[in-house]
Amino acid sequence: MIPDLKLNNGHKIPQIGLGTWQMMFGRTCRKAVKTALDQGYRHFDTAQVYFNEQHVGRAIRDSGIPRSEIFLTTKIWRGRISDKGVLPSFKKSLKKLQTDYVDLLLLHFPVSPDKRRAGWQKLEELHNAGQARSIGVSNYTITHLEELLEHCTVKPAVNQVELHVFLQQPELLSFCRKHDIAIEAYSPLAHGHGLDNATLQAIAQKYQRTTAQIMLRWLVEQGLIILPKSSHPERIQQNFQVFDFKLDKDDMKQIKRLERNLRTCWDPTNVE
Ligand code: A2P
Repeated sequence: MIPDLKLNNGHKIPQIGLGTWQMMFGRTCRKAVKTALDQGYRHFDTAQVYFNEQHVGRAIRDSGIPRSEIFLTTKIWRGRISDKGVLPSFKKSLKKLQTDYVDLLLLHFPVSPDKRRAGWQKLEELHNAGQARSIGVSNYTITHLEELLEHCTVKPAVNQVELHVFLQQPELLSFCRKHDIAIEAYSPLAHGHGLDNATLQAIAQKYQRTTAQIMLRWLVEQGLIILPKSSHPERIQQNFQVFDFKLDKDDMKQIKRLERNLRTCWDPTNVE
């Protein structure tokens, strides 16, 4: 049974979702989503810039699983985060996703201050109209969140950021906890880096798990939402099986020492 977490607006979110970044090819993407649905995943994370919203939407539709049982996220791409850009691009996303609402809509990146502010107001409009049940941001640092909290009417429910054993971001975690903003960890497997790390391998052996499962479990232990991406059926399944064991205090201590500020994607820390 996959735990649901509660967002700050009362909506529930399954603690694991399938990440779909770099699943551009229709057949690969649809097959991955179908496999995940068969395994029990009910949460899918896409974005305009992943160029696969249509494939994700079609695979969900083809599954016959009621829309109400699925948690679906998309993100507004950087160039469309503006007063004029959000609404038309979101309309296209809904069409591709074959739905009339998303469960979570995010601003994908902290673009310039005036544009991200205008973009957020548009997200609030979509939220108020019921087309985005929850709204949030991605790649926001504490500074960006502080600015947003000052002017928002609807508080962000989520901040989706790169987070894994090699990029632990403790200050951002405590800020988000304090403000009741859920953290979604993208690239929770550090994009495949460090799966041969000796510390992780030793812990994996202790529990008869894989290093990937240890990396994911470390995030789950902290109450974070995880979005591992895989297009291989056995890995999609493996990544889902991280809710039936626990790491002990000593494991957590050892993993804490693995921090090395490794960013495999973007670095938003220098964005004004
Ligand atoms: P693949 O899609 O070929 O399975 P992240 O989610 O951190 O960005 O990591 C995604 C990368 O990790 C992809 O290259 C994916 O490859 C690989 N991956 C996903 N799950 C596993 C796993 N359980 N074991 C090893 N590699 C994995």
